[in-house]
Amino acid sequence: MSLSWSGKDQKNANQPAATGQKRPRNDAGNKVTVVLGAQWGDEGKGKVVDLLATEADIVCRCQGGNNAGHTVVVDGKEYDFHLLPSGIINPKSISLIGNGVVIHLPGLFEEGDKNDKKGLKGWEKRLIVSDRAHLVFDFHQVVDGLQETERQAQEGKNIGTTKKGIGPAYSSKASRTGLRICDLLGDFKDFSTRFKNLVQQYQSMYPSLTVDVEDQLKKLKEFAERLRPMVRDGVYYMYEALHGPPKKILVEGANAALLDIDFGTYPFVTSSNCTVGGACTGLGIPPMNIGDVFGVAKAYTTRVGIGAFPTEQLNAIGELLQTRGHEVGVTTGRKRRCGWLDLVIVRYAHMINGFTAIALTKLDILDVLDEIKVGVAYKLNGKRIPHFPANMDVLQKVEVEYETFPGWKTDTSAARKWNDLPVKAQNYIRFIENHIGVPIKWVGVGKSRECMIQMF
Ligand code: GDP
Ligand code: IMO
Ligand code: MG
Repeated sequence: MSLSWSGKDQKNANQPAATGQKRPRNDAGNKVTVVLGAQWGDEGKGKVVDLLATEADIVCRCQGGNNAGHTVVVDGKEYDFHLLPSGIINPKSISLIGNGVVIHLPGLFEEGDKNDKKGLKGWEKRLIVSDRAHLVFDFHQVVDGLQETERQAQEGKNIGTTKKGIGPAYSSKASRTGLRICDLLGDFKDFSTRFKNLVQQYQSMYPSLTVDVEDQLKKLKEFAERLRPMVRDGVYYMYEALHGPPKKILVEGANAALLDIDFGTYPFVTSSNCTVGGACTGLGIPPMNIGDVFGVAKAYTTRVGIGAFPTEQLNAIGELLQTRGHEVGVTTGRKRRCGWLDLVIVRYAHMINGFTAIALTKLDILDVLDEIKVGVAYKLNGKRIPHFPANMDVLQKVEVEYETFPGWKTDTSAARKWNDLPVKAQNYIRFIENHIGVPIKWVGVGKSRECMIQMF
């Protein structure tokens, strides 16, 4: 009997060997649809998720924390979500926060209560939280700030984090001193001891860190009781969802490919896997249950925080994109850095994620430009390089090769179908699609739900 490998030309790779014995069939179950940022974040993932969530049964977050800021505009009302999946807006769907997410409980309830006042009723009944998710404590957020000060003092530059405690919380997780939701809901005496140990550990590293331990524990105990009804074993919940009756399950990526801890512009990245693998590890689901992977990219590029940005425009073009695009961070209120669309990074994101289609957002922001450039390749010492450089010193040095397109100089915000778009805009979109080698399924021409042209 020969071993069988799954591959392009192995038609029967998954068939059981012909031994005559009955073998259990591997029931693959439902597939999840994943939405991921293909640049440095803020591509409009929230809006794409909202669009798909109108039909979804379950919407999940699998990584990141409240460093994310996802905007959804419905009936003229603007909601911003940080920890809650954007699908929480749909009263018919369940939202799930998976084990890969790091949760700051005061932040979660503040966000829920704020949106409740805007009309998002009953969110607590529609939210499920994995018992394996790690907690972000207030002191993790303080330490995030202290680490930024330290970086500034030591290296003359920081990362420009959101100061939401993401790096320190994932560090606690990796160093196996972190505390999880299941610990908080278990024996509180034991939880308190481990919490105190963790505080002490950080205080020995940062002597200026002061923590009112008793006050923190009192608050955490209150949050624990409010949270308890929402907590489930996330793996089992997902298993049942995947293997029960047909269900539409959506995974909302936070942050983005170029901020991924492994594949992003390290060290100017976040601390989780924001690429497709994060959907499996952050929810406890097998790769074979991953269905469509939609990449979201803006029709230009933005970045919040520090780090290399080859197509950045530190000129009137960059300012125009910033003001017309209202490019201000949802979480921190910082101005986003702006530049031309960089297809080298989107192609790199596609190499990792295997996008099945792309959502191209904010095309309308380019409506007034005379000409539009697109970065298509990087050169080093005059020679094109085929890969995306790992080393930031190298990335700082690349020369970008651009394609230039004539601007369409027409308002596209009222376009609702492909034929409503000016031919020059259609050419711009077709070029992007061909260059990445992935079909563009949606084109965004405005903030609200209906401003999304669906191509197929
Ligand atoms: P996310 O983090 O990827 O969910 O994106 P953010 O919400 O942080 O940032 C995207 C911003 O662009 C939000 O203010 C959205 O309302 C807005 N937006 C999304 N799609 C479009 C679009 O097609 N056109 C315009 N003008 N704005 C858009
Ligand atoms: P969404 O989901 C844009 C950036 C921060 C900083 C770096 C590390 O809205 O696309 P962190 O606080 O995560 O340790 O910060 O990552 N960053 C984001 N930038 N959008 C995001 O999320 C981001 N999440 C993190 O600005 O440079
Ligand atoms: Mg955002």
